Amino acid sequence: MEGYTASAPGKLMIFGEHAVLYGYPCIVTAVDLRMRVGVKLNSGPSVEVKTDISPEPFILSREQIERRVDVPKEVSFVIVAVRRFWEHFNLAFGAEITTKSEFTYSYGLGSSSAVTVATIRALASAAKVEISKDTIFRLAYESVKEVQRGDASGFDVAAAVYGGLLYYVSGGSTIREIRSDSLPLVVCYSGTKASTVELVGKVRQLHRDRPMYVDEIMTEIGEIVNSGEAALLAADYPQLGRLMKRNQNLLAGLGVSTDVLDTLVDSALVGSAYGAKLSGAGGGDCIIAVSTAENRVATVDSLMSADVPNAKILEVATLAEGVRIEPN
Ligand code: PMV
Repeated sequence: MEGYTASAPGKLMIFGEHAVLYGYPCIVTAVDLRMRVGVKLNSGPSVEVKTDISPEPFILSREQIERRVDVPKEVSFVIVAVRRFWEHFNLAFGAEITTKSEFTYSYGLGSSSAVTVATIRALASAAKVEISKDTIFRLAYESVKEVQRGDASGFDVAAAVYGGLLYYVSGGSTIREIRSDSLPLVVCYSGTKASTVELVGKVRQLHRDRPMYVDEIMTEIGEIVNSGEAALLAADYPQLGRLMKRNQNLLAGLGVSTDVLDTLVDSALVGSAYGAKLSGAGGGDCIIAVSTAENRVATVDSLMSADVPNAKILEVATLAEGVRIEPN
């Protein structure tokens, strides 16, 4: 049977992490590092998943998938997406699924949501069923929540499906494109992988201990998101930078920044970036800095001379296209 390949982009949170889990909006951009998923259906009794993480394919019977047997993390997003797809379209089939990543999961750029979204898109083409982007979003979001068993706003799933720059409210109750021609960022990996679940739990605990303090921070982050949308639409980079600095201070107030992230943010500012902040849950992963053609080199140099041995500049373009079928 004919094979189909879909790809979906990774993401970077621009404004609003954590606050998005408390009902406020956030802004996310898709980035041009993609997850690719190839699907070939067959009439056999099992689903075989090949990843670039392990040399051995992972094989599950249809019955095991339907029974929800435990599977290793690296294939769980694919397997759960297959089961959700079967349930939605009332189908079941044997399949060979191959995933390939243009980026390591440790950057925190949303490889899990991108692989889930690309799997569902490729499955639909292989099974010859029509699927809208909204349905891909729903199925992928349900799959990601099932695997992560916890709080997840779904902003990364939305970026993988729709691409571009999005104004997003948790659960997808608002997903709106912000029309922008360019968003010039320097992206620097901190050298440390963060645990989103742990950091979300830490902020939840702080909210239980000091509700007024946390609510005040979340409210201000919500305001920054709305001002941020206006700055993005106007391509006002100095204002965008000011808002990022403020967002970073508020995230530090929630206890999710680290010495390494603070050092990188400060170095970006020394390198004349307009502003910088952590992106995502905090605790590690990446920082982003607003730097245009004039100050990009100085920002990169300053980040590279910071005292963070494993820091790495990631060459990524923002405003990337959402999920798509690739030519074979
Ligand atoms: O750590 P990341 O890149 O998955 O970002 C998490 C962002 C949070 O707002 C903390 C959680 C969420 O699901 O929105």
